Amino acid sequence: MAVMRGAAPPDSSDLDPFSPEFRANPFEPYRQLREFAAPAVWLTKHSIWVVSRYDAVRAVLGDWKRFSNAGGGGLTNYFLEKPWRRPSLILEVDPPEHQRTRRVLMQVISADRLQRLRATFEVQADALIDEALERGTLDAIPDLVQRFPLTVFPDAVGMRREDRSTMLTYGAMVFGGFGPVTPWYQDLMKQADTVSAWIMERCQRQTLAADGIGAAIYAHADAGDIEQGEATLLVRSLLSAGVDTTIDSIGLCLRCLAEHPEQWALLRADPQLARSAFEEATRFDSSSQSLFRTTLEDVDFQGVPLQKHQKVLVLIGAAGRDPAKWADADRFDVTRRVTASQIGYGAGIHSCVAQMMARLEGEVFFASLARKVQDIELIGPAQLRLQPGLRGLSSLPLRLIRKTS
Ligand code: HEM
Repeated sequence: MAVMRGAAPPDSSDLDPFSPEFRANPFEPYRQLREFAAPAVWLTKHSIWVVSRYDAVRAVLGDWKRFSNAGGGGLTNYFLEKPWRRPSLILEVDPPEHQRTRRVLMQVISADRLQRLRATFEVQADALIDEALERGTLDAIPDLVQRFPLTVFPDAVGMRREDRSTMLTYGAMVFGGFGPVTPWYQDLMKQADTVSAWIMERCQRQTLAADGIGAAIYAHADAGDIEQGEATLLVRSLLSAGVDTTIDSIGLCLRCLAEHPEQWALLRADPQLARSAFEEATRFDSSSQSLFRTTLEDVDFQGVPLQKHQKVLVLIGAAGRDPAKWADADRFDVTRRVTASQIGYGAGIHSCVAQMMARLEGEVFFASLARKVQDIELIGPAQLRLQPGLRGLSSLPLRLIRKTS
């Protein structure tokens, strides 16, 4: 782990962004961090920098020459420590390698493909929401929310239909590795070999449907854009990044709507607001709250001296609530115009390569909900998962009442 050389930095804090207390309500510590005079604050518990104001977050994410992704997507510093799995060929590399793999993923998740997928996403969302309405009361996370991305996304990649719950365990390993090693994580990682083998088998060409995104990635290998082995790892990147993110973002958006009945009423009256409602939730309270960068050299960051190979925690969740950027930042407003300034999908060269697919999933899900559901009633406390990595709910007890007209 990196340590500070020489004089103490001007601003430091003993807040611990990986602690359950911080994660249970990050928005108050986000406020405290944004209010420091310096744009980067030293976190004493982990010997890392943190950046939380909107402008500073954009500045770091826009500066890949000094703030690298090759140091690893989590707290582990790949410049100093060995990663647990082979680093991601897209998220954990810098240019020029990054451009090559990113171009392939941009092409296979094209606007045309999304256009074709829309109808199948709609059929699936309608079926799941009808089923939820038949039940009436449900735990919306396992019974509804998880089932939607777990069906539509692996289907789009071309995975065969089977029990896909191992994907959630794999996702927990990938995102759980974001923070310090805890007993929970060590316990989870006892399954790493079995779970990795399960995932890697599903990334092989022969297991993927001929018309899916996975096969399209292999076609790029045939064309010589990437190696065959790289195609396998790019399919793995999609399976790592494409399920838990959308599950957690849809789950948190659903909770926002349940907790803000006046916003739900607006959406129910006009299902066309579904895309903007999901966009607002991605700013307000979403799965991806934080990212990491690692300095490639000594950096003067807006007057703060950062040393080479130090980790920088980039709090996009705090940037999404920065009152210097957003009017009434702590208000959830489904009519807000967010997209042009959205930070919830990151920014710069690594910004979410599949954000249009994530938006499509959110839009389709909430449009179907708005067309079919009259009332969303919280019938018990929602449970947050307090592990590092993604923010999300493990439980959301709801009663759903069908629209009659
Ligand atoms: C609401 C859902 C999602 C959210 C909030 C989200 C968020 C993000 C964020 C913040 C980043 C930037 C990471 C960084 O800069 O360090 C990112 C990158 C990425 N996301 Fe997403 N994501 C979502 C859905 C998806 C889906 C569905 C997929 C797969 C189809 C996906 C695949 C990726 C990949 C491959 C990258 C790496 C891009 C690169 O390094 O160039 N994401 N995502």
